[in-house]
Amino acid sequence: MLKVTEEQPIEFSSKLITEFNEIVTRYPEEKQKAALLPILHLVQAEYGWVSVPAMDKVAEHLDIKPIEVYEVASFYSMYFLKPQGKYVLEVCRTGPCCLVGAEKIMDYMEKQLGVKEGEVTSDGLFSWRGVECLAACGMAPVLQIGPEYTFHEHLTEEKVDQLIQELKK
Ligand code: FES
Repeated sequence: MLKVTEEQPIEFSSKLITEFNEIVTRYPEEKQKAALLPILHLVQAEYGWVSVPAMDKVAEHLDIKPIEVYEVASFYSMYFLKPQGKYVLEVCRTGPCCLVGAEKIMDYMEKQLGVKEGEVTSDGLFSWRGVECLAACGMAPVLQIGPEYTFHEHLTEEKVDQLIQELKK
């Protein structure tokens, strides 16, 4: 994964541009904006997040306005608009998970990782955040861990410790 800062100008690799172009061919002419979601996924896979200069470059590539990219990237929670840790721990914070301790799990995670929601640990390994229903309410409380999006159910503080230790290895 390439590291970029918030202001850093972006030059996409020729490999990435080839992949963008291949995606654009899947859509009718003049409808290249439809390729925006998969292209943003590729950008995020390359850099770990989607910076404003990266969004500007995507707009240029698709011949659309930067605001059209900002609107989409800021609407969908799966796009990170700030740098993240190598692993992003996403805890469901919707009603059913909260009823069985999701908020306590988030407090515990904050304490164990030593960073607030959306921040990155000093070793660059972790960030965490609360997200909306992960569609596993029967197994609450739950969390998923990006970028692979592994799923973990019936969370306890012990399970959180175990996951963090495993990821550190
Ligand atoms: Fe947490 Fe649905 S409320 S998975």
